[in-house]
Amino acid sequence: MELVKYVLIFAFFCNGNAELDTLAGGEKSNYTFPKDFVFGVSTAAVQIEGAWDEDGKSPSIWDHLVHTNKTFVRDGSTADVAANSYHLYKRDAEMVHELGVNIYRFSISWPRVLPTGFVNNINPLGIAYYDNLINELLRYNITPMVTIYHWDLPQKIQDIGGWTNSLIVDYYTDYANVLFKHFAHKVKYWVTFNEPMQTCLEGYGGTYRAPALNRHGIAEYLCTHNLLKAHANVYHMFKTHYNETGGKLGMSLDSNWAEPRSNTARDREAVEVYLSTHMGWYAHPVYSPSGNYPPQLIDLVNAKSKKQNYTRSRLPEFTKEEVDFIRGTADFFGLNHYTTYLLSMADKEVGAIPSHENDVGVVRVQDPSWPSMSSSSWLKVVPSGFRRLLNYITKKYPGYPIIVTENGYADYSGLDDTARVSYYSHYLNALLHAIHEDHSNVSGYFAWSLMDNFEWDDGYVSRFGLYLVDFKSPNKTRTPKQSAKLYTEVIASRRLPEDYNPHDFSAFSSASALAPSLLPFILYRLLH
Ligand code: NOJ
Repeated sequence: MELVKYVLIFAFFCNGNAELDTLAGGEKSNYTFPKDFVFGVSTAAVQIEGAWDEDGKSPSIWDHLVHTNKTFVRDGSTADVAANSYHLYKRDAEMVHELGVNIYRFSISWPRVLPTGFVNNINPLGIAYYDNLINELLRYNITPMVTIYHWDLPQKIQDIGGWTNSLIVDYYTDYANVLFKHFAHKVKYWVTFNEPMQTCLEGYGGTYRAPALNRHGIAEYLCTHNLLKAHANVYHMFKTHYNETGGKLGMSLDSNWAEPRSNTARDREAVEVYLSTHMGWYAHPVYSPSGNYPPQLIDLVNAKSKKQNYTRSRLPEFTKEEVDFIRGTADFFGLNHYTTYLLSMADKEVGAIPSHENDVGVVRVQDPSWPSMSSSSWLKVVPSGFRRLLNYITKKYPGYPIIVTENGYADYSGLDDTARVSYYSHYLNALLHAIHEDHSNVSGYFAWSLMDNFEWDDGYVSRFGLYLVDFKSPNKTRTPKQSAKLYTEVIASRRLPEDYNPHDFSAFSSASALAPSLLPFILYRLLH
């Protein structure tokens, strides 16, 4: 058995994948970023603010999770203080200015603004904090982009069902209305939801994100259903009451790129099934010309539900009116992208029964020879995947400018972050090629993240920042890394540095060296 296992692993390494001929996102070129292309940096409230119970803020589902489950976070940390941006927002705005960035994307904490979760009690200190931050940005001529929901539901709303309670559509709309009332005259970009799939699939269907409910097969679909209605409701409210502000509103969806594991028709089909049942789960209802959940997902969940003796599909149905109400409710397509996977069709049941994973029935792996030394094990460096994804979205959801609201690389810290410099160079090269050669409809790019922060279950181990944060220092001192300098140069010159080489992945070399070095490891295991 052992022998078979290792021979299979070895065959996997040797075989690689059928389709991905190059990692590079394009050859060396003189391409420049278009004049009106915007550059930004992103953060999120839980990850940077700290002050988790100060000035009237109530606990979010993340506060609750990490306080009650001490082993949830890799280094046992919490977001109680994080980068202390609640007190250091002036320095944050200054850093954005130093970078020469046009837009700063940050999120507003629902339990800081509405400690009961409801509008019966609007926290003036919470409003003041965001007002001050926005004013500080405007003082530097930086455009604020606000994410209304970046995963931090008030625990009090979770206690009554959270995103599985259909009344949350109203609760969320009321919350968004408070933000529009106070800030819509100053904020020109709004993101209703950051990575809703993480909230629903991992938070309600799984245990990887708060509230870690693990009611797979049911709760992820309920959550998504309510969340999409909430998104559409807020879009219509915005267009009806705040249109004169000229603001733009969209959603930020997370998507990996997918390549077929082998060149068989089945594995090529797996790619389409994967993309349409993951990104498409959220994108199809809002951005496709026909609206509604993707037909593949409807059929798959329906068939599995029948087989499992449910009286109706576990995927709730939208009425015709709801489909029309949700379709087209965005001004831009926000995309968070980091990495690529290889897909194949499962030849037996996968995942828990019932679950979205089981319903969809594909298997996802990564090629261990892809470069990476990242502290986030999933973060393999495949710039060509980014380019292909941008093309895919442009073709599949025409008419919406894509704003890349997140892209970045994690390491274990250090100012001389050559791997991150290389990652950004490669991904920006892929982006330039997507724009100039493939005519992808991309109008902006945001680096994740402005500074090191609380990386959810990875705590402070995984560092994504352009600025290093010294979490041990009392002032949470922020210092620019090499990658910050690269980003500033790219923004100023609108192009990649002269010496950039699209085929040089040596910054990740110790990791690349790791894949061949697995051969002796395999032999060792065989012999012992
Ligand atoms: C996506 C999330 O939006 C962000 O909060 C997270 O830190 C990054 N990806 C990196 O994992």
